[in-house]
Amino acid sequence: MVASLDGFIARKDGSVDWLETSDEFVDGEAMDPEFIEAFLKTIDCYVMGSRTYETALRFEAQGLGWSYGDKPTFVLTSRDLPRIRDTVEFYSGDLAQFVNERLRPNFRSIWFVGGGVVSAECLRLGLADEVRYSIMPVLIGEGIKFFEKLDRDVALHLAEVKAYKSGLVGLRYEVRVSE
Ligand SMILES: NC(=O)c1ccc[n+]([C@@H]2O[C@H](COP(=O)([O-])OP(=O)(O)OC[C@H]3O[C@@H](n4cnc5c(N)ncnc54)[C@H](OP(=O)(O)O)[C@@H]3O)[C@@H](O)[C@H]2O)c1
Repeated sequence: MVASLDGFIARKDGSVDWLETSDEFVDGEAMDPEFIEAFLKTIDCYVMGSRTYETALRFEAQGLGWSYGDKPTFVLTSRDLPRIRDTVEFYSGDLAQFVNERLRPNFRSIWFVGGGVVSAECLRLGLADEVRYSIMPVLIGEGIKFFEKLDRDVALHLAEVKAYKSGLVGLRYEVRVSE
């Protein structure tokens, strides 16, 4: 996910207006649209929490489109939410069982979109191989944390760092398997 420097992925009311900044880091790399497109092709399915799905629904209603293409998109929820596409499927229950028994045998690259509750749940349950953490050049003071209520340490290996012209810093970590 993309976070503010103080570690928030959205304001308390869920808004992400702060993702638009006007910084310029002259030595940064350009965000090449072809690279992004090629990267998105490597993702086989998406998994997201219901509140992230509700943000996606709002974006779609505002005419901003659907970011997940025609890839299968699994929404974790115990509620009855509108199903706006055939590619959307809802799941409620044991996340480890769902990922290990249902998703892993069928999909190679599983992208957890977020939000904070789901990303923490994923790490707590030992389901993540990598964490992609991008930092926007902004502080917002309070909001929804990247990892909500992560109640244990998770050792990471820094695998990649990229700084972009927009001032965004992209970090890729591998989750170290505890012995
Ligand atoms: N900056 C970024 O890159 C970025 C990326 C993604 C999201 N976001 C933002 O993050 C915010 C949402 O984050 P969040 O932490 O509040 O919520 P979230 O992680 O998107 O969703 C949490 C909800 O998902 C459902 N859920 C989670 N695990 C479940 C399970 N195993 N079984 C059934 N349901 C499960 C529960 O809701 P129910 O009550 O429905 O059961 C839970 O309250 C939004 O504002 C979104 O825009 C930002």
